[in-house]
Amino acid sequence: MSTRLDGRVAVITGGGSGIGLASARRLASEGAKVVIADLDEAAGKAAANEVSGEFVGLDVTDADAVRDLFDSVKADLGSVDIAFNNAGISPPEDDSILDTDLDAWQRVQQVNLTSVYLCCKYAIPHMREQGRGSIINTASFVAVMGAATSQISYTASKGGVLALSRELGVQFARDGVRVNALCPGPVNTPLLKELFAKDQEKAQRRLVHVPVGRFAEPEEIAASVAFLASDDASFITASTFLVDGGISAAYVTP
Ligand SMILES: NC(=O)c1ccc[n+]([C@@H]2O[C@H](COP(=O)([O-])OP(=O)(O)OC[C@H]3O[C@@H](n4cnc5c(N)ncnc54)[C@H](O)[C@@H]3O)[C@@H](O)[C@H]2O)c1
Repeated sequence: MSTRLDGRVAVITGGGSGIGLASARRLASEGAKVVIADLDEAAGKAAANEVSGEFVGLDVTDADAVRDLFDSVKADLGSVDIAFNNAGISPPEDDSILDTDLDAWQRVQQVNLTSVYLCCKYAIPHMREQGRGSIINTASFVAVMGAATSQISYTASKGGVLALSRELGVQFARDGVRVNALCPGPVNTPLLKELFAKDQEKAQRRLVHVPVGRFAEPEEIAASVAFLASDDASFITASTFLVDGGISAAYVTP
């Protein structure tokens, strides 16, 4: 495994599970010191222990807690080199616009979009001071294409993450701070597996649109996170970084 992240400090929100956990493992294996920030104490601590990192329990919608997270990482570990702002939710109450009430809409906006605003707001000053930093915000392929199987607030939140990341990437490009929106296609997480084990037709309806013919593994998304975090991506900023098996490019699949 490469050592391209040796000496880098990485903060990962939602690092206790799924894409965040796979990325924690990958970044640590490439030499980064990983700080996992998650609402779920048990999962977050287990992940931090596994990668010899640190755990901070917090709700990413809490502005003071997010500011303290980045300030304390800088104070205790010396730098904030990588911020993988990844925590997100897609609850069942968020559905078609016809059925989604305002509470469900607002909760998803808070966790998926406001949290990314907060993490960027409090990570960027440290990165500017250092003259170096890589921010990776988790959006989704639904930020660039529409689905008839709607989760309306989720989709809108990811569109917001994409636009916010693009703007910040442009604004801070000459300060050495790169900001990219990671747009994964559907990933083979426990939730997705459970959903599709119950309903094969639902799975097929989605799989037919994926040119490679399968969903992504979390490790495949983590590999892109490590790339964007590293100097190998030194000329990549403000990008819509699609890791979607070709979904967003496909008209007819094989
Ligand atoms: N799984 C997919 O198919 C897929 C596809 C595209 C994008 N994404 C996005 O990738 C990101 C990670 O998804 P995942 O599938 O790995 O999810 P996951 O549910 O496996 O993990 C999410 C983590 O975020 C944490 N979290 C949730 N709310 C939080 C909060 N308020 N404060 C702090 N931590 C909180 C959870 O405790 C959990 O550890 C999300 O932003 C999701 O929208 C997922």
